[in-house]
Amino acid sequence: MKFRLLLLAALLVAVIPADARKRPQKFSHQTFDIPAVQPRVIDVETSGTQLVLQVDAKGTVRTVHYGAPAGDPAQFMEFDAGGQHNFSAPTTYPTAGGTFNGLDALHVKYSDGSQNTELYYTSHEVQVRDGITTTTVHLKDYVTSLEADLIYDACVPEDVILMHAVIRNCGKKAVELRNAASASLNLPAGKYLLTHFYGGWATEMQMDQTILTHDTKVIETRRGTQATQGNNPSFMLSPGGTYSETDGEAIAGALAWSGNFRISFEIDQSDRLNIVSGINPFASAYPLRAGDSFTTPEMIYTWSGEGAGGASRNMHRWARKYGVWKGGQVNPTLLNSWEGAYFTFATETLLRMIDDAASMGLEMFVLDDGWFGLEHPRNSDKAGLGDWEVNTDKIPEGIDYVAKYAHSKGLKFGIWIEPEMVNPDSNLAAAHPEWIVQSPGRDIYMSRNQWLLDLTNPAVQDFVFGVFDRTVSLSPDIDYIKWDSNRRVMSFGSPYLGDEQDRFFIEYVQGLYNVCRRMREKYPDIIVQCCSSGGNRVDYGSMRWFNEVWTSDNTDAISRTRIQWGTSLVYPPCVMGSHVSAVPNHQTGNVTPLKFRFDVASSGRLGMELQPKTLTDEERALADRCIRSYKGYRDLVFNGDLYRLSSPYEGDFYSLMYVSPDRRRAVVFCYCLRFQNHSIGGHVFRLRGLDPALKYRVTEQNVDGSCWWGDGRTFSGSFLSGGGFNPVFREADTSAVFLLEAV
Ligand code: GLA
Repeated sequence: MKFRLLLLAALLVAVIPADARKRPQKFSHQTFDIPAVQPRVIDVETSGTQLVLQVDAKGTVRTVHYGAPAGDPAQFMEFDAGGQHNFSAPTTYPTAGGTFNGLDALHVKYSDGSQNTELYYTSHEVQVRDGITTTTVHLKDYVTSLEADLIYDACVPEDVILMHAVIRNCGKKAVELRNAASASLNLPAGKYLLTHFYGGWATEMQMDQTILTHDTKVIETRRGTQATQGNNPSFMLSPGGTYSETDGEAIAGALAWSGNFRISFEIDQSDRLNIVSGINPFASAYPLRAGDSFTTPEMIYTWSGEGAGGASRNMHRWARKYGVWKGGQVNPTLLNSWEGAYFTFATETLLRMIDDAASMGLEMFVLDDGWFGLEHPRNSDKAGLGDWEVNTDKIPEGIDYVAKYAHSKGLKFGIWIEPEMVNPDSNLAAAHPEWIVQSPGRDIYMSRNQWLLDLTNPAVQDFVFGVFDRTVSLSPDIDYIKWDSNRRVMSFGSPYLGDEQDRFFIEYVQGLYNVCRRMREKYPDIIVQCCSSGGNRVDYGSMRWFNEVWTSDNTDAISRTRIQWGTSLVYPPCVMGSHVSAVPNHQTGNVTPLKFRFDVASSGRLGMELQPKTLTDEERALADRCIRSYKGYRDLVFNGDLYRLSSPYEGDFYSLMYVSPDRRRAVVFCYCLRFQNHSIGGHVFRLRGLDPALKYRVTEQNVDGSCWWGDGRTFSGSFLSGGGFNPVFREADTSAVFLLEAV
């Protein structure tokens, strides 16, 4: 009997095809009713822009307008976003699954293996507070009970809209977020020019421009830390296909996230543009247990009808108010010890640098790398990271002594840390090998002779916060911390996360932000610079905790013109640390005049980074003068409106100006980058942002004989903007700074 049954089973297996065997005997396909909703539009407005979402009777939400105010949003009630191809038009937050096959903002894998999500409108609400209108749109998947809130924070006077999403697992089983973008912005068919930023060490924020063509252009990083070294999570978009500083539409976008990001631009078969931006899903299928939610970082958008210049100014205004820690606060001029002393100093070196800084009129001294490590002294980049005790061989009197000395000379005092890192040659590496980012059985690769600490681990977060806390406690006279981060993630992995390695890249950044939050709760007033081998952590995720950034280790004034121009497209000049250093420049070997170096550095937060005793008396007198004049106009650099006049990427001149909000004062920077005969007097700088009817007295700064015939005289705003301003440059690497004051 037993044998016969076995034979029958074997026969059945042989005749039934393999794929049919897997199917359930009875298959019933149950569908869920989606409750109909009242069609409507949802209006998100700022003073000069409008975003309109349209909800159809099924509850599908589409973005039907972003740009200039279009009036009564009800006009968009029947706007047909997809024409005959409605199925293929992206929704406001497109999901993997359903009818849409383009870029997804949300991709979820459910416990039964299915990966379709369809989100429909359930309700929305609007809250108004202090200049920000928050619109929350609630969406739901009726099959899986997954919910998504799309949140739009409209910063009304600044014309900025922040977008983010909260994904909630309201089902009974855990799911996997394979992609959960911050936002998807759908724009109509057209020609789009994308300006984005690429770079490497010492070449940060270089501009790249491309017309978006069909299919997808992606800017992203997978570096983990140092996320902005290769690409920056920001862009400028020119609808219409031509970049202009002054005219036409421009949209600036930036993601507030300091880790792996991905921003994708897809032009579909109907020529529409869909921009999906958020955390990079690379190696990050994030587990979401039943009842849990995930909040994405914010995507920041602004639109302007006054070209890229207008979009930048909106972004800067927003950043000074909301995006940067104490944005717009005037931070002190400084002397940093790095390029002047590197690792080789003793107390005496520091005291003399402080004397020199004070005598030149600088306002702070910053002691850079090299002050710590006892058993493993930090005398090069090969040892000491992790051991944050003062190296008393170098500074036997201690940090408090040096800080007090700086204060006694009227200077503030700052100090360098790199708390996320460890040299193998340190006590920390020996004590806590399990704190190091690593993958089982694999080499822990080194970069700059150091390893990365695992900030997903709360014990490491405590340690990193402790480094900040203990360093500040070295002296009551510490006013400034330079927070560095000199390597990226390699062989990613966290001993702490065990078999949940998908959390690594996301929770590293969240861990970093936890530390920053604690830092700011305890130390709101300390000025903290965000440095990462120069400008490799320049993003709005970190800036909300930091006062300024070190835009690049490249201090060559020529290189800085492009780096600062690029940075200024999306980030405000008040965050740009910019230093005068020695020549030949330590990174490029270029030799430029001291005045040119001062004039370039003075368009950001001015500092010096050299050994002052190498300066001649004449050079010191020039330094004195430049620092004094900078103090007279720096309120404009920190809080004025930026107008970029001519690009270092084109022609012979780079020029820019800052104008006070009441338009009564302005400072103009002109740099001659290449000299050709026609540079002499032929070039007219058309100033912008001035009041045409006001009269301005124009005075050149930092020189005795001016390069403009009109120096010291008074002209109307219309004359200065209309073609009358033509200073003469007779050599490459010469420059001029003019102060304009209404009379
Ligand atoms: C990085 C920073 C520099 C300096 C060095 C010190 O390269 O970007 O400014 O602080 O580290 O090691």
